[in-house]
Amino acid sequence: MSFNSGIVKLADALPGVNRIRAVKRALAGRSNPVYLEIGVSRGQAFQQIAADVKIAVDPAFNLSERTRERADANGRVTHYFETTSDAFFEEQKALLERHPVDVALIDGLHTYEQVVRDVENTVRYLRDDGVIFLHDCNPPFELASRRAESWESFMAQQKGPLVIGVWNGDVWKAIVQLRSTRDDLQVGVLKCDQGVGFVRRGTPESTLRYSVDQIAALTYADLKADRKRLLNLKPPRYLDEFLNAGAASPPK
Ligand SMILES: C[S@@+](CC[C@H](N)C(=O)[O-])C[C@H]1O[C@@H](n2cnc3c(N)ncnc32)[C@H](O)[C@@H]1O
Repeated sequence: MSFNSGIVKLADALPGVNRIRAVKRALAGRSNPVYLEIGVSRGQAFQQIAADVKIAVDPAFNLSERTRERADANGRVTHYFETTSDAFFEEQKALLERHPVDVALIDGLHTYEQVVRDVENTVRYLRDDGVIFLHDCNPPFELASRRAESWESFMAQQKGPLVIGVWNGDVWKAIVQLRSTRDDLQVGVLKCDQGVGFVRRGTPESTLRYSVDQIAALTYADLKADRKRLLNLKPPRYLDEFLNAGAASPPK
C-alpha cells in the first residue's frame, strides 16, 4: 500500500505493467463495462480508469475537486460510497446485481482476512469473464509486510530517524489462502508495482494446501524463502496471456 509515498507515484510513471495499466487492459474491448475500486484514497487510479459505470468505495475518501471531476469525466455514471467494503457489500446488493462487475481493483484495508472477504464478495458479483486485481501482494521487505489496521498505525510502529513509506501489509497471505481454499478461481501475482494480484473464475493451474491456522502462522521469512510458489508469481508480461486466455470454466 503506499498511501502517501512517492514510490507509488514513481511506479505509476514508469513504463510497464502496474495496477492501473492492468485494469485498463482488462477493460479494453468490453462493452459498457462496470469498474469497482475498493480503497480509492486520493483517486490516483480511479481518476484514470474509463468505464461506463464506476463504483468507488472508501471509508475516508481523499479526493480533490479536480480529481473527482477527472474521475467523473471518465465514466457515464460514477457512484461513491464512503463506507467500509464490508458495509458496501452488505448494503448495495441491488446495485451490484444491476451492475455485475467487469473489472475490480481491491486496494482497501490491507489485512489478509479483509482482502479474502473483499475478493469473495466481489466474485459474487463478477461477470463470468470478469477480472479482479489486488494491489500490494508482493512486499519487498519485512517492514512493508507488517500487520496494521491503517496507514497511521503502520507509521506509528516506526521509531527512529529512518521512516519507510511503503506498506503492503500481509495481503500476500490472501493469495495463499485463496489458492488453498478456492479451486474455482485462478489466482496469482504479477511481479511489478509491489505485486499486482489477479483473480478470475476458472480452474487453477496449481493450488496450495495450507490450513487457515497454517496461513495465520506464516511469516515474512516463509514468503521470502518460497515467494514464487506461494504467490504463483509471474512476470509482468504474463498479463496479456492471462487476459487473452479468458475465463476457463465459469461455474454454473
Ligand atoms: C492505498 S489507498 C488506495 C489507493 C488507490 N487504490 C490507488 O491506487 O490510487 C487505501 C485506501 O483504502 C481505504 N480503506 C481502509 N480500510 C478500508 C475498508 N475497510 N474498506 C474500503 N477501503 C478501506 C483507506 O481509507 C485508503 O484510502
